Amino acid sequence: MPPVQAPHGPLRSYGRIKSRNLKPRQAEILARRADDVSLPDPDLGPIDPKTIAPDAAETWLEIGFGGGEHMVAQAARAPGVLLLGAEPFFNGFASAVRHIEEAGVSNVRVLQGDARALLAALPDASLARVFILFPDPWPKARHHKRRLVQDEVIAEMARAVRPGGRLRFATDWADYADWTLRRLLRSPDWRWIAQGADDWRTPPADHITTRYETKRLGDCAPVFLEFERR
Ligand SMILES: C[S@@+](CC[C@H](N)C(=O)[O-])C[C@H]1O[C@@H](n2cnc3c(N)ncnc32)[C@H](O)[C@@H]1O
Repeated sequence: MPPVQAPHGPLRSYGRIKSRNLKPRQAEILARRADDVSLPDPDLGPIDPKTIAPDAAETWLEIGFGGGEHMVAQAARAPGVLLLGAEPFFNGFASAVRHIEEAGVSNVRVLQGDARALLAALPDASLARVFILFPDPWPKARHHKRRLVQDEVIAEMARAVRPGGRLRFATDWADYADWTLRRLLRSPDWRWIAQGADDWRTPPADHITTRYETKRLGDCAPVFLEFERR
């Protein structure tokens, strides 16, 4: 199979990518379960969710799942859905494998790596939902180009998400909320589904609070932006 050409620059790390030592129980679970819950390397060829879970009603993707708590909780709530996740941070990946084991879910597949490479390997219109929850803020102007939300990533998500599918973005950095809204509103592919002026202040009914969200490290209250693929 030809290698997938990733339309993005190198991954710039905001936090830690390399590992801290794992606790023995986490290391044991990782050794036993990593192979069966891992996605193939997206740089080696296309990844079709239909071949991973032929009976799944839909496929959702979480970009930058951190410790995996939100991804695994959503998977437990929606057993008919295949949940894909990508996270370059090794300890986050190991934590997600532990959550998968402890929750007893079989509908999650994870990549320790760059979500942009995974997106590039997914077929057109193969996703029903994408979650980007509290992405690295890169608050300094000279670092804004490192933000995950860029026009190319927005276009790539539009390619991979089916019409009527959803993108959920959350942040507690006011400038990143503005940045994302501006880019999504100028994209021909996405429609902001806010109904009232205050929609973005209220967590969506099915939102699960993330680990990073509880830390309140940003400069504003959490902002939730939900978009529909046209
Ligand atoms: C601030 S943390 C938030 C984690 C989690 N979503 C939460 O709310 O607890 C942002 C995460 O995005 C990950 N990340 C950054 N760039 C990424 C990329 N290109 N693909 C996947 N994950 C990425 C980082 O490693 C980090 O764990």
